[in-house]
Parts: sequence; C-alpha cells; structure tokens
Amino acid sequence: MLLDLLAVLVSIAVTGVNSDSSANYIYTYAGFGSGDSGAAGPANMAKLRSPVAFALDSSNSRLYFSDYYNNKVKYINTNTGYIYDFATGFKGPWGIALDNKNNLVYVADAENHVVKVINRTSGITSIFAGTLGVSGTTGDNGLVNASRLNYPNLMSLDSINNVLYIVDQGNNKIK
Ligand SMILES: *[C@@H]1O[C@H](CO)[C@@H](O)[C@H](O)[C@H]1NC(C)=O
Ligand SMILES: *[C@@H]1O[C@H](CO)[C@@H](O)[C@H](O)[C@H]1NC(C)=O
Repeated sequence: MLLDLLAVLVSIAVTGVNSDSSANYIYTYAGFGSGDSGAAGPANMAKLRSPVAFALDSSNSRLYFSDYYNNKVKYINTNTGYIYDFATGFKGPWGIALDNKNNLVYVADAENHVVKVINRTSGITSIFAGTLGVSGTTGDNGLVNASRLNYPNLMSLDSINNVLYIVDQGNNKIK
C-alpha cells in the first residue's frame, strides 16, 4: 500500500519533470564508463572513449557523435535512446557536419588530416578534403581534394550557400 502510494508519487514527480521543459535538471544521456560497448543497446549503458563532437539531424531523430579514441562515429536514435555504430576506420574522428538535403555526413578525421564524407544513401565513405595520412598546408584556391590539412577538427556547414567551414587547427586557420 505504502509502496503503491510511493510509486504513484514517483510517477507524478517524473511526469512533472518531463512535462516542464524549464526544469533545471541534468541527466546522463549517453555514456557509462570508458570503453567501447553497448552498440544496439541503451545509450546510457554504453561505454565510450572521449566523445568530442556531435550533430543532430534535421528531423531530430539521430544524434551523431564522434567517439574519438574508439575511432568511430556513432549515433543515438533519439526516439528509442539506443546507440549504434555508424562508421569506422577513422584515426581520431572529431567534427561532424550534416548535409541533410543530400543525405551526407562530413567527418573530420583529425589524425588522418582529412575530412571524409559518408553518403548515407549508398553507405560509401570518401575523402572530401585533404590528403590521407599527410599533413600540410597547401592547396588554397585549388580543388578541395588536392589540398592538405593539419589536424582538422570542428566543422560547420552553411547549407544555404553550400560552404563547409573547417577548423584547420595545426595550420592556425579556418578553411
Ligand atoms: C549518394 O549515393 C546515391 C546512391 O548511390 C547517389 O544516387 C547519390 O548521387 C549520392 N550522393 C552524392 C551527393 O554523391
Ligand atoms: C578531385 O575532384 C575533381 C573534380 O571534382 C576530380 O575530377 C578529380 O578526379 C578528383 N581527384 C582525386 C584525386 O580524387
């Protein structure tokens, strides 16, 4: 009886918190210790290693993020709270920018000195900017795939003007 009453009170309290978006509460959304586990399970039970950047898609249904020391990009299905591996094969993935119109995901592969692009329709990953595994600062005013970058990390996409801004940290530049 007392437990039933408590359960009712707790459910009222939780409902109250959830329905009041102004409540200043904080929760763990993803991550439960250091490691690489939990794919296809609840995000708040998954082990991560240095998540560094994220991006929410335009329908707010997937939160993509870079799991730096696991060399993976993962996403969380925001409707279920479940986490999935999205892409592997990076060396220090950092910034993520989404081109929702063209269904593309840009990932700064920092320690490989390139920006990769993943076509979500075909599943194909290609190099968008920089030269794989080679740092440098050349290529301005030329084709982006002939350029060199040095530890690219944060990025932002201007989807109206079709411009991708890249922090080229090792060169002290923004491109
Ligand atoms: C992505 O892949 C699809 C399917 O292969 C293709 O039709 C589309 O043109 C690609 N998008 C870009 C921007 O390359
Ligand atoms: C770079 O892009 C140009 C034009 O998009 C293409 O013709 C060329 O083959 C590409 N070069 C490499 C090395 O991928």
